[in-house]
Amino acid sequence: MSEPTVQKTDCGQAMADEADESRRETIVVVTGASGGIGAAICAALSADGHVVVAQFASNRAQAERLARVVSVRGGTCVPVQADLTTHDGLVAVVDTVTKQLASRSGARLAALVNNAALMQGPSLSAATFETFDAFVHLNVRAPFFLIQALSTMMTAGASIVNISSASAHIASGGDPIYAMTKSAVESLTRNLAIELGANGIRVNGVIPGYTDNGHPMFQDPAARQYMGEMSVLGDVASPSTVADAVTFLVSDAAARTTGSFIDVSAGMTLRPRRTGAAGVRSTRS
Ligand SMILES: NC(=O)c1ccc[n+]([C@@H]2O[C@H](COP(=O)([O-])OP(=O)(O)OC[C@H]3O[C@@H](n4cnc5c(N)ncnc54)[C@H](OP(=O)(O)O)[C@@H]3O)[C@@H](O)[C@H]2O)c1
Repeated sequence: MSEPTVQKTDCGQAMADEADESRRETIVVVTGASGGIGAAICAALSADGHVVVAQFASNRAQAERLARVVSVRGGTCVPVQADLTTHDGLVAVVDTVTKQLASRSGARLAALVNNAALMQGPSLSAATFETFDAFVHLNVRAPFFLIQALSTMMTAGASIVNISSASAHIASGGDPIYAMTKSAVESLTRNLAIELGANGIRVNGVIPGYTDNGHPMFQDPAARQYMGEMSVLGDVASPSTVADAVTFLVSDAAARTTGSFIDVSAGMTLRPRRTGAAGVRSTRS
């Protein structure tokens, strides 16, 4: 029987194309890269072989430290300072991506991770127009318009990951604006998964619970106990937990996943009872 030469050539070509594709540089954008979770996401995506555009707002020292760590490990991290509550800030990120794509022959934009956010907002009585706008502009408007601009530079296979919060699922009563913004982020994720899915771009989210981002609160024993009791599994997460979920969603292993959320809140969203009571019947003698 003669060799199926045509098929063999096609197969060889397909393998060569795949090898070419895997050699192309991939650029990922991470907002809030100077924060605890953002830095971990940048490090993990760099370890996965991506060039990282790392947005920060005020903490230049932390962003430059991150870039050095990534560089020592053989990766590339390009810090960009931008206040994402402003039009100029959004343009600064988009311009940086445009320059990176132009300067790296054959490079493609593989992912946008919308991670920057303001947390612990004012209560109903303390809120002002200014504080309300600050939360909505950074937590919702910035992801929306970054996706609008950057998705036009993406091709099929690219991925957008929005960082939500267990607060979108738990009514705690004291932090309504933050919780509202994270619910909006989840709605945005589902809606844009449909719209951008037409272009082969996936849109997913990650739902962290309390995660030690380096804030002094995480060293306070009483606060730590309170936070631990909010989850099923106890204690708080490390930023690498969130980063691992993001890395999966950006990777080809998640090629069939869109409009989904990975919940890494250790069961916070199940609303466990802080007292550990087994239900109202267990409180009766
Ligand atoms: N940590 C948790 O317990 C927890 C729980 C659930 C969900 N999350 C979510 O996880 C994500 C990351 O949180 P994190 O704990 O890493 O927060 P974080 O340590 O407080 O970092 C916040 C990041 O946002 C940036 N940022 C602040 N204002 C900005 C602005 N106007 N424009 C652009 N960037 C701005 C900060 O930049 P500079 O520092 O440079 O100013 C910093 O990089 C957030 O979406 C948060 O809602 C966190």
